[in-house]
Amino acid sequence: MPTRPKVPPQRLVRAIDRVRAGLSRLHRSSAPGNIALLELATGAWTTAALYTAARLGIADQLASGPRHANDVAARIGVDPDGVYRLMRALTSRGVLRQRPDGSFALTRVGDALRSGVDGSLRDMVLFIGHPIRWADWGNLEHSVRTGRTAFAELHGRPFFDYLDGDPEFATVFNNAMTATSGLADEVALGAYDFTGCKLVVDVGGGHGSVLSTILRSAPEARGVLYDLPSVVADAGPTFDAAGVADRASVTGGSFMDSVPDGGDAYVMKNIIHDWSDDDAVRILRNIRTAIAPGGRLVLLEMVLPERANSFIGLMLDLEMLVTAGGRERTRGEYANLLSRSGFRLTRVIDTITPMSIVEAEPV
Ligand SMILES: C[S@@+](CC[C@H](N)C(=O)[O-])C[C@H]1O[C@@H](n2cnc3c(N)ncnc32)[C@H](O)[C@@H]1O
Repeated sequence: MPTRPKVPPQRLVRAIDRVRAGLSRLHRSSAPGNIALLELATGAWTTAALYTAARLGIADQLASGPRHANDVAARIGVDPDGVYRLMRALTSRGVLRQRPDGSFALTRVGDALRSGVDGSLRDMVLFIGHPIRWADWGNLEHSVRTGRTAFAELHGRPFFDYLDGDPEFATVFNNAMTATSGLADEVALGAYDFTGCKLVVDVGGGHGSVLSTILRSAPEARGVLYDLPSVVADAGPTFDAAGVADRASVTGGSFMDSVPDGGDAYVMKNIIHDWSDDDAVRILRNIRTAIAPGGRLVLLEMVLPERANSFIGLMLDLEMLVTAGGRERTRGEYANLLSRSGFRLTRVIDTITPMSIVEAEPV
């Protein structure tokens, strides 16, 4: 039987979130307002330092134990003073720790910057800090003024069209998506029971990490991974690593045109948030046409609170505004989209991650 990761109860996680949000407010209110603002405003410098460390593989150099900056610099062949200053700055952000002998060690946060370890976010950092992304976010004002994406303004094409013509950046993006899947998917999807499903279709499933997690939890099910042809072409290694290759197949195409027929569960993680209401309805209607009678639609998205708080989805919403042209939505907004598309929202299951599961049935 597949084993599920041990997770703390949702109530405990919510309580911890509230305490952390309270401590952040306390941290900010214990400094003069302008100092607290300065700390927030230098967040871009932190992103740049993390990105550089990820590119240079600094965390991997410390995986076997603490090292001096000189040693790290010699091993990766870069300027010792530059590396020392970078490692010192990362220490100020809690990513590294400097020991009394001057060497640097990874903290728990720095550990997540290593490559090839469970829960690694290195590939996500390489996406967030990529030079293309600086230009996008540098033009947030354009998006706020016009409601249109800075991305299309800068690159002359919508985000996913652009990816098709820039394989290097497409790899950065797809690897980032797979990185955020990892442990979080296992935990989020653990909140939903897929046993009993015969055919699960993962629409916009990237390299198949979500579908692999589902198939491992539902040994009777078969799965179809559906995404753009250039994306599904690279899914093989993910299925092989998860041991589900014999039950998974891939189909390339655009969900704006159609989706594979006959699934009794259609899953979309982080898809609807990429699109405007009208485009989202078009995708959902294509699923409505294809879904088997009695089937279920399962969306994984960050469902926004009605009233703004410290929820990370409120920042992700700006990423959607700048980049893809979609938006994060509240429960009511999902219910509305679904009813425009021939579905009825049946429930929203909060998970211990920021992702919720929005379940719907055809009407
Ligand atoms: C934000 S990513 C989410 C990937 C995956 N569901 C996950 O959570 O890791 C959005 C996905 O939508 C896919 N996509 C974008 N436009 C598409 C289209 N017209 N048809 C099918 N897939 C598309 C992208 O290739 C990408 O894999």
